[in-house]
Amino acid sequence: MLVLFIILICYLIGAIPFAFITTQLITGKDVRKYGSGNVGATNASRLLGFKFGVLVALLDIFKGYIAVLIANFFLVDMPIYYLLLASLAVIIGHNWSVFLKFSGGKGVATTVGVLLRLLPVAFLIYALIWIFVIILSKYVSLGSIMAAMSLPLTFFFYTEEAIYIVFAIIIALFVIARHYSNIQRLLKGEERKINFSLLVNK
Ligand code: G3P
Repeated sequence: MLVLFIILICYLIGAIPFAFITTQLITGKDVRKYGSGNVGATNASRLLGFKFGVLVALLDIFKGYIAVLIANFFLVDMPIYYLLLASLAVIIGHNWSVFLKFSGGKGVATTVGVLLRLLPVAFLIYALIWIFVIILSKYVSLGSIMAAMSLPLTFFFYTEEAIYIVFAIIIALFVIARHYSNIQRLLKGEERKINFSLLVNK
């Protein structure tokens, strides 16, 4: 019972749509109707500028981190897969939010928060690949996809139990699946590129 309750709490924390709330509060607009339509930091930054994009990213990272922290605290003596389920729940909440009729984001920043708490080295590798690919290609989505693809390998090297690798494969698949439209655009050469000068000016 406690496990189910904690998983539900983690889902609800993940479901808080910071990109939606912030853009609504500041512009009165629905972020789902702009840019890529994604309820995430990158798309929020298209409406609000770089600084607010960073704020949304930090809030999404924070909810991933805090949810796993809470789950860790209450499920400490229980089998590890309960904690991993709770970690999945916060990402699922972000991607398919009950507060947005099950629309949502792509789980990149929330996954960062989860990794920060679960396996900091995975966060480090994920962040480095993300930044490196974005600088080289100017595609945020490509950075997110490549970073997610690193996860199964990182978990394979740094954890002992197979359940962690299954977990890493699932969260990588979530990120990749949620980037389906980005992948289509990348293949057609139609994906939006990040404008670094805009980032500095805004
Ligand atoms: O974190 C989401 C990013 O990878 C892509 O965002 O808005 O360009 O689909 P967007």
